[in-house]
Amino acid sequence: MQRTMLRIGLLLGLACLFLSAAGSASAGGWAVITLTHLPDYAVAGQPAGFEFVIRQHGRTPWVSDMVLVKAIRVGSSDALTGKAESVSGTPGTYRVQITFPAAGLWRWSVSSGLYPDFQPMPDLTVVAAAASTAGAPLPNRAALLSGAAGLAGALLFAVLLILRRSRARQAAALSLVCLALGLAGFSLAADPGQPAQSTAAIPAYTPAPLSQAALGERLFIAKGCIVCHSKTASGLPVNVSLDMGPNLTKVDKDAQYLKYWLADPSELKPETTMPKLGLSGEEIQALIAFLKAGN
Ligand code: HEC
Repeated sequence: MQRTMLRIGLLLGLACLFLSAAGSASAGGWAVITLTHLPDYAVAGQPAGFEFVIRQHGRTPWVSDMVLVKAIRVGSSDALTGKAESVSGTPGTYRVQITFPAAGLWRWSVSSGLYPDFQPMPDLTVVAAAASTAGAPLPNRAALLSGAAGLAGALLFAVLLILRRSRARQAAALSLVCLALGLAGFSLAADPGQPAQSTAAIPAYTPAPLSQAALGERLFIAKGCIVCHSKTASGLPVNVSLDMGPNLTKVDKDAQYLKYWLADPSELKPETTMPKLGLSGEEIQALIAFLKAGN
């Protein structure tokens, strides 16, 4: 009798342990956060906008008024938080504007209130706004070209006329040259050209080109694949995946299959729980390069 009681107690204890472990992921559930557009970089002192979609259990649009973003600057104590607002008319879609105060590498993450507490996003390079180079407006290049082409054509015509050596024609030729010069000048004067770029809008910064696989790795984080899949790769944050999906360290499927799979998993497997994440063709190409890179 005592033995049976002991066994039942042990079993109950084990069951409790198991349930409490599972509970952390299922109490409020979990969610996948998918960044709509992965930015190359942001500019210090200027608002940067981010849009993302939150799917509870990878499926249901998650509606909440406590969606938070936090960011820290790597190697410093700089930190900031922001509150995302839901985009009206599209439940589960959120936008947030953050102004990074300083240039550097910023590590940021988003909280939906569900598991994971804060879903990591790919590190963001923030660059300093370029020094002011405002100057006189430059004439529009197209206007310059068309003016020059018109002038050249008229001159050629005039030369041909002069070669015919008739007085009347020479006079006509001269007036043609004058007309052409006048027109060219007019087209330049009339077109104010583009104002010199306000340097605040376009900093003198070109992000270093990323390989497709490196871009794919960033997308693997940004799109929320990391919440459901593990993969051995140096740049991925650890301890995020719930392992709902298979480990993707080795992927046997060919690129063509993966292209269709990532575009819409349920097209290939109607009963699958992997969501359609609204990926663009370019995002899919980069993701495939990353998935295949480990093979
Ligand atoms: C909500 C969880 C979830 C998310 C998010 C998710 N997946 Fe999956 N994925 C799954 C599951 C579950 C499977 C297993 C599919 C099945 O057999 O039904 C799977 C399967 C796969 C496969 C294997 C396909 C095959 O048939 O061999 C690949 C590759 C894959 N996912 C890549 C990705 C990528 C890349 C992303 C991000 C863009 C992603 N997944 C996001 C759950 C997820």
